[in-house]
Amino acid sequence: MSSTGEAPLDGPLPADVPGSLRRVAILERTLACGPAEVWENVLDWPHIPWLHPGSFTSVELLACGTDWWRARVGLAPAGLGRSVVLELRVDRAGLRYVTETLEGPGSPAWIVSTLTPMGPAATAIRVEFFAAVKDAMHRRITGQAYLRVYRRLWDEDEGMIVARRASEAALAGRGIERSLGRRVALALPQTVVIGGARVRIFAVGAELRALALVCPHMGGPLPDEAREGCRVCPWHGYRYDEDGRRVDGRGAGLRRWTVRWDPVSDEVVVSS
Ligand code: FES
Ligand SMILES: [Fe+2]
Repeated sequence: MSSTGEAPLDGPLPADVPGSLRRVAILERTLACGPAEVWENVLDWPHIPWLHPGSFTSVELLACGTDWWRARVGLAPAGLGRSVVLELRVDRAGLRYVTETLEGPGSPAWIVSTLTPMGPAATAIRVEFFAAVKDAMHRRITGQAYLRVYRRLWDEDEGMIVARRASEAALAGRGIERSLGRRVALALPQTVVIGGARVRIFAVGAELRALALVCPHMGGPLPDEAREGCRVCPWHGYRYDEDGRRVDGRGAGLRRWTVRWDPVSDEVVVSS
C-alpha cells in the first residue's frame, strides 16, 4: 500500500526531520525477510549501481562507520552526469533508518524507513519521503516520483535478499550428489540444479568439470555463459574466468564440484 493523499501526509514530522521539509509520500509494503537482512542490505552500499542499474550508475564511498555510510551516487541515465551525496544511518534499536540527500538534485531530502517485524521472514516497512517543495503540485509530482523509484528499488532489493538466503544454503551444502545419466547422452555444456545450486557442467578436453554458479562473495547468481571469457556477478560486479578463477583480485574463486565418470556403466555423477 502507498499513499500520496493529503490526510496521512500532513501528520506531524518525526522529531529529527528538518522543519523546512514536507512529507511528500508514504510507501508501505511487507518484505519477505527479517530486520537483520534489511540492515545487511541497506548497509551494503557497493551493490547500488550493480543491482539497481535503472536508477544508479556508480557509487563512491566518502565515509562510513558502524551502521552508517556516506557516498556519492551517480544517477541514471549515465549521459547526464548527475549525482547525489547520500548518507544512510541505521538505528537498529529503533527499527528505523534514515537516508538523507546531502547534495545534488532533490537535496535536501530525508527518507525515513521504519520496520515492524511480522515473523521470521516477514517485515512490514513504512517508507516516508520528506522533501523541500514549493507548492501542492510540486509536492504531488515529487511524491509520485519517489514512489515509482522506491517500489522498483525494493522489488530489486527483496529479490536479492531472498535469493541470497537460498544461495547461502547451496554454498554450504556438502555431500549432495546427482547422477547426470550416461556420458554418451550428456549435452555439454549445460547447467543443472543440484541441492538448490546451479552447477555448470562442461568439458575441458576429455575431462568433465562442474562449477557452482554461485558467487562466493554473497551468493550472487552468476550467468550460465561467460562473456569475453568472464562471468560478472550482478550483485557487486566481482569477475570470474570460465574456469571459476577470480580475475579482479576480489574474493575467492568459484567452488568446483566433483565429477565422477564410471567407464563401465558410462554414468556421470556430480557431487558437492
Ligand atoms: S555476491 Fe557480491 S559480487 Fe557476487
Ligand atoms: Fe538496494
